[in-house]
Amino acid sequence: MSTHIAAEPGAVAPTVLLPGDPLRARWIAETFLDDATCYSEVRGMLGFTGTWQGHPVSVQGTGMGQPSLAIYATELFREYGVTTAIRVGSCGALSEQVAVRDVVIAAGACTDSSMNRIRFGGHDYAPVADYDLLAAAVAAARSREGLTSHVGLIFSSDSFYTPRPELMKPMAEHGVLAVEMEASALYTLAAGHGVRALAVCTVSDHIVTGEETSAQEREQTFADMVEIALTAAFG
Ligand code: HPA
Repeated sequence: MSTHIAAEPGAVAPTVLLPGDPLRARWIAETFLDDATCYSEVRGMLGFTGTWQGHPVSVQGTGMGQPSLAIYATELFREYGVTTAIRVGSCGALSEQVAVRDVVIAAGACTDSSMNRIRFGGHDYAPVADYDLLAAAVAAARSREGLTSHVGLIFSSDSFYTPRPELMKPMAEHGVLAVEMEASALYTLAAGHGVRALAVCTVSDHIVTGEETSAQEREQTFADMVEIALTAAFG
C-alpha cells in the first residue's frame, strides 16, 4: 500500500490507463475489462484491475491537474511496478484544424507548469510520448471509421480558468493542437522512471469556436479513445 493508493503488492497491472475522473475509471473497468475488481478507494480516487482480451490492465483515476496526476503516477511507477501508462482524457481544441469529438494523440506536451523547471533547475525539458505507443495509437486511430484523429503537440496547463488566454495564440501558431492539464507531468515522470507513456485525448470543447459536446457524444468518443489506448498498449 502506498500513501494514496491502497492496493496490495501485485494488485496493479503493469499497464495502466489513467483517466482524470475516478468515475470514468469505474466506467472503463465496467465497460471494457473482464473480471474487474476495485483495488483502491482512497480519497474516492478509484483504481481497478481486470483483463482486456486476456491482458491484465488497470485503470486508475488521477484527479485533475499535474500535481494530482504526479502523486498517482509516482506511486504507480515507484511502488507498483507499472511499465506502461496511458492517459485517457478530454482536451479543449486550440487549432482550427481540430473539431469537437476528434481525438488528439499527444506526441509531446508543452506546459506553463513550474514542475519541470524546478526538476531541471530552470532548463526547459521537452516531454514526449513513448514512440512505439504513439505509433501504435496513431495506427489504431487512423483505422477507425468515422473518427478524425490528430497527432502533435498539446499544452498541459496548470489553469483551467486561465488568467492569460491570449498566451494560447502563439502556442496555436506553433502547432499546438489542444489544451489539457496532465500530459506534460506524465511524460516527464514516466521518462524519469523508464516507463512508457502516452496521452490520448478526446476534444470536449473548442477554445476558439466555443463549441461543446453533449454528455452522450463525450461517452461515445471516450469509448473510441479507450479502445485506441488498449490497442496501442497490447497491439
Ligand atoms: N482547458 C484545460 N483542460 C481542458 C479543457 C480546457 O479548456 N477542456 C478539456 N480539458
